[in-house]
Amino acid sequence: MGKTMLTGDRPTGRLHVGHYVGSLRRRVELQESGGFDDIFIMIADAQALTDNADNPEKVRQNIIEVALDYLACGLDPEKSTLFIQSQVPELCELSFYYMNLVTVSRLQRNPTVKSEIQMRNFEASIPVGFFTYPISQAADITAFQATTVPVGEDQLPMLEQTKEIVRKFNSVYGDTLVEPEILLPDNQACMRLPGIDGKAKMSKSLNNCIYLSEEPEEIKQKVFSMFTDPTHIRIEDPGKLEGNTVFTYLDAFCRPEYFPEFLPDYTSLDELKSHYKRGGLGDMKVKRFLNAVLQAELEPIRKRRKEYQKDIPYVYEILRKGSEKAEKRAAETLQNVKAAMKINYFDDAELISSQAERFQNQ
Ligand code: TRP
Repeated sequence: MGKTMLTGDRPTGRLHVGHYVGSLRRRVELQESGGFDDIFIMIADAQALTDNADNPEKVRQNIIEVALDYLACGLDPEKSTLFIQSQVPELCELSFYYMNLVTVSRLQRNPTVKSEIQMRNFEASIPVGFFTYPISQAADITAFQATTVPVGEDQLPMLEQTKEIVRKFNSVYGDTLVEPEILLPDNQACMRLPGIDGKAKMSKSLNNCIYLSEEPEEIKQKVFSMFTDPTHIRIEDPGKLEGNTVFTYLDAFCRPEYFPEFLPDYTSLDELKSHYKRGGLGDMKVKRFLNAVLQAELEPIRKRRKEYQKDIPYVYEILRKGSEKAEKRAAETLQNVKAAMKINYFDDAELISSQAERFQNQ
């Protein structure tokens, strides 16, 4: 059987470098590897509404931001289907049937839902839609018979939930759905890139993000204000790497070829790190290097974004076409699901004739 990739993001803001190293960069590599028959990239507006029900304008405005970020990173509409979740109504229908296969207590145990409830101060006032979004995420994944889902670590519980639903569905109704595999980033720095202040989570409200669309001067300012090792005061002091944001970013972004280009005194990141630990290497020098690296990484992304920004109607057209293609695929799966669940009455000529026979003899 062929391989299908599906993943997506909530449109609640522009995407930042954490999204990039956590998943976007990987998606583009996989797209270019040619190892997939189909690639679906979803803007999860319906999921964004589960905790932004009173702010539809925010979601609406950010659809185009996320689409531009996708295209800017190199997702190619010729190779990957970019679509909007709410434009594929089959996903709601699948969710409705999957709800019968999941218990309330199982949802309450979902670690991502738990921590998000805390973060948003929902406590007793959780919207039902928010509480059940892991089920709708299972619908997103299974509708496309996805084999591979590249996401950040925080999505692991969602994938577990999806696998459980697939197994339960297949055991109750017969083999119908595909069990997906999660693809996590391969290094710790990419798994959870901290904010520029060193805080574990990059978030708009903390004002600690570097966005993909950021201008060179803003990138520089943010790099120079980054949290490092507060005990590394004089250049000759030994420095710590743990919790040192500048080095975490280098772990995520540095490539060997950047040394001859921007910092020829060193041959590798390991060499730079050991000098820092030993003492004698100042923060400014490391920050200047990181700035050069980030500028080199983000420049092509920013340029491509500006090209697409010139033709916004075309970008909406990409999403419209993508949504149509996505709906076709989801409709095929829904048909199989309904057949397996025995709710495909009118497609089942045998059902109608056998019922006819039954009543004939009465
Ligand atoms: N939950 C993901 C996020 O918060 C978005 C998402 C929705 C998703 N459905 C998905 C990701 C299906 C992967 C697969 O960013």
